[in-house]
Amino acid sequence: MVGLGPKRKPSRKGSMADMPGSMVEEIKRLEQLFTVDTQKLKAITDHFISELDKGLSKEGGSIPMNPTWCMGFPTGYETGTFLALDMGGTNLRVCEINLPEEKGEFDIIQSKYRMPEELKTGNADELWGYVADCLQQFIEYHHEGEKLDKLPLGFTFSYPATQEYIDHGVLQRWTKGFDIDGVEGKDVVPPFEAALEERGVPIKLTALINDTTGTLIASAYTDSEMKIGCIFGTGCNAAYMETCGNVGKLAHMNLDPDAEIAINCEWGAFDNEHKILPRTPYDVIIDKDSPRPGQQAFEKMIAGLYLGELFRLVLVDLHEQGHVKMFEGQDISALKKPYSLDASFLSQVEEDAFENLAQTHDLFEKELNITPKRPELELIRRLAELIGTRSARLSACGVAAICKKKGYKTAHVGADGSVFNKYPHFKVRGAQALKEILDWESGRDGKPLKEGTYPIEIMPAEDGSGVGAALIAALTLKRVQEGNTVGIKDWEGMLKGTAAAKGDNKQVGGK
Ligand code: BGC
Repeated sequence: MVGLGPKRKPSRKGSMADMPGSMVEEIKRLEQLFTVDTQKLKAITDHFISELDKGLSKEGGSIPMNPTWCMGFPTGYETGTFLALDMGGTNLRVCEINLPEEKGEFDIIQSKYRMPEELKTGNADELWGYVADCLQQFIEYHHEGEKLDKLPLGFTFSYPATQEYIDHGVLQRWTKGFDIDGVEGKDVVPPFEAALEERGVPIKLTALINDTTGTLIASAYTDSEMKIGCIFGTGCNAAYMETCGNVGKLAHMNLDPDAEIAINCEWGAFDNEHKILPRTPYDVIIDKDSPRPGQQAFEKMIAGLYLGELFRLVLVDLHEQGHVKMFEGQDISALKKPYSLDASFLSQVEEDAFENLAQTHDLFEKELNITPKRPELELIRRLAELIGTRSARLSACGVAAICKKKGYKTAHVGADGSVFNKYPHFKVRGAQALKEILDWESGRDGKPLKEGTYPIEIMPAEDGSGVGAALIAALTLKRVQEGNTVGIKDWEGMLKGTAAAKGDNKQVGGK
């Protein structure tokens, strides 16, 4: 343990003064590799817009732009009781949400279950069995001895799924390191429902949703300026509301061109054909060694799952190529383990407030059994900043592209996810990039631009996979009750099975 020393000042130019020349050169090389300047951000955004358009067209493109059959925003007056299930990477969360009469209000109870690591690479039966067991436990615990009508469920399934109906979804491909056999290319709802049926769990799946759509709808429930829902977490993605007339691939359905439908962009797949993103050799390795090479090019450069791995790959490379003699003579076996560092490791490096980077020094000793020298610590810190900054700036391109495409001069964007909520400076860096891309000079109040007045503001979202899923289930049942069953497969089952059939507005509905 080294002494903590004075707190770090904002500029660390002086800290570089005593560095060996080769180290300074190496930092410069990394800066060149990882920096995305304003001009490049603008070029990426423009290309992004054309790819969003392509995804909506009949021919399609590499960004899936999946119509979700969540048709329109909530009014804030939705009511009823719903279950929500969120199948995330680390946890499985089950909630019961009550939407009362009061505008924009909700009550929620929830339980979390661990998502066993083995399940992520196991088989489909085990997965659905485990998910159904958790739901059963939840119901038994919270409704012991009650005789229940089937409870309507919003299931947040945060992977790319094409949906012909809201209560159906064909998994296009696993992302975020999941690799379960026999699920890709199939509708995930029937095996899920079969597992519930087998156990006699009184639940009716009403809506299969993406976390971004949930985020959009949950945030719009309390904020009418909300235009986009984003997740910057283990994976990254966004959803927004489009008019049906703009969705070329739905033209054959002759929908009302002015009706609104939420689009799950699945923008993690942006630039899978490597036309514009400034990939480094380290990005190439991440892709090559992932379970789905060639997929999720954008996501692999910015999402939480990959930030620590990028950082690790650079450090291993610097040790091995010998030019800067990084960690010379030390045993780097712990660092050599793929995916051993997560985004929170990088966050801790960026949060180290001490001039001599004492916390980073201790972190490396404790977690990796490596004792970095002072110039190495400087490189480590700069590298973390570069990776974190690139992530925030590239993320902003997606937000700017949707805003430009839709002609939004002002908007609220609801964001959730561990990177957005916890990674240091992510929000400020993203806002700075938006400002550069969109050439803002004045704020939404018309006065000179300052923080808090940005025309497009990315802000913390409401709970998308809980409240959002419940709201989408409520909106779906409301449509069923009104006889608008477009994009709803088993609307009869929803009427029969749930309290909606009895017109019991306490359980489902709205006004
Ligand atoms: C998935 C998306 C999801 C995003 C954020 C991506 O890997 O493909 O469906 O919205 O992660 O969770």
